[in-house]
Amino acid sequence: MKAVVQDRYGSPDVLSFSEVPEPEARADDVVVRVRAASVNARDWHVLRGDPYVARLMAPDIGGLRAPKQPVRGTDFAGVVESVGATVTHLVPGDAVFGEAPGAFAEYVRAPQNVVARKPASMTFEQAAALPLAGNTALLGLREIAGVTSGQTVLINGASGGVGTYAVQLAVAYGARVTAVCSTRNVELVESLGAHEVVDYRTTDFRTRGERYDVVFDLVGNRSLGDLKRSVTRDGTLLLSGGGVSTGGTLFGPMKLIVAAQLQSRFVKQRIEIPQAVPSTRALLELAGLVEEGKLRSVIDRTYALSAAADAIRYLETDHARAKVVLTAEDPCL
Ligand SMILES: NC(=O)c1ccc[n+]([C@@H]2O[C@H](COP(=O)([O-])OP(=O)(O)OC[C@H]3O[C@@H](n4cnc5c(N)ncnc54)[C@H](OP(=O)(O)O)[C@@H]3O)[C@@H](O)[C@H]2O)c1
Repeated sequence: MKAVVQDRYGSPDVLSFSEVPEPEARADDVVVRVRAASVNARDWHVLRGDPYVARLMAPDIGGLRAPKQPVRGTDFAGVVESVGATVTHLVPGDAVFGEAPGAFAEYVRAPQNVVARKPASMTFEQAAALPLAGNTALLGLREIAGVTSGQTVLINGASGGVGTYAVQLAVAYGARVTAVCSTRNVELVESLGAHEVVDYRTTDFRTRGERYDVVFDLVGNRSLGDLKRSVTRDGTLLLSGGGVSTGGTLFGPMKLIVAAQLQSRFVKQRIEIPQAVPSTRALLELAGLVEEGKLRSVIDRTYALSAAADAIRYLETDHARAKVVLTAEDPCL
């Protein structure tokens, strides 16, 4: 089969669209014929091996010169091709979506507990956009912060992959949502239900003197002190990485995260770093919200699977609007 492969860390130039062995379903796995896959910041972090320290810590990076799993990609949607002996809830022919390493390929193998049936109302592209970003928003807002009706939530980076789901989830939980984005995305985040939009090109949310029950930072361009000052005394600050522009080479956005973990012991505010673990349960919860009309995927651009390098280059600009998706409808396949 054809897949998007890297044999060393580097820029998107190191990627090739190459022939690799087709995966086979082990006992607890399904093999899915990929129809669409989405691109996440995680993909360029693994591609570049950035930050360096993650090469030693992240399970699917691990190697010093190249990642252990050579096929990039995590989020996928497609049709089940084959199932292992102990798979109970899926059969060949099911339309599914999920999260597993090696998704930028014609076929991906995934444990059954990270795959779920695709919501019927979603296209494969829309479903492929949802897993990692949706799960991160879900973990942060519902499981960690426990957002409830009437609370105030500020989302910095509201027009990005995670942000567009986070705005909708916070609205669905009954919160009053303030979204921070640039001028060109104001209409988009309003259409997702944000009650108030702060255009960071003209207004700095820190200078407005407002405090929020929950601040979800998806940009990493503010100091920890500034972010804490935007959270109520017993509120929750969620930190979810930082973009290319804030990433260093040795520790990258992890500096902010480590500082947050140290400080969280001494303040009443909760400071948390959502690290979403893929699961069928989370996918089904997201799918349920989709079916209720409370959650949708916003897709900025689609690229052919063979053009994954261009898709990652675009995501690395830090200004993609919501999600970037690869489609397997490539004449080469
Ligand atoms: N911990 C985890 O498990 C986990 C999971 C997923 C993601 N993350 C992290 O979360 C972060 C966000 O991910 P993502 O997928 O949402 O990224 P993304 O889609 O690449 O975010 C792009 C968005 O960021 C916005 N942006 C850029 N500069 C901004 C600024 N100064 N203020 C406000 N918004 C700004 C852009 O809006 P404009 O074009 O309007 O500027 C754009 O819409 C990444 O750093 C990623 O590594 C962590």
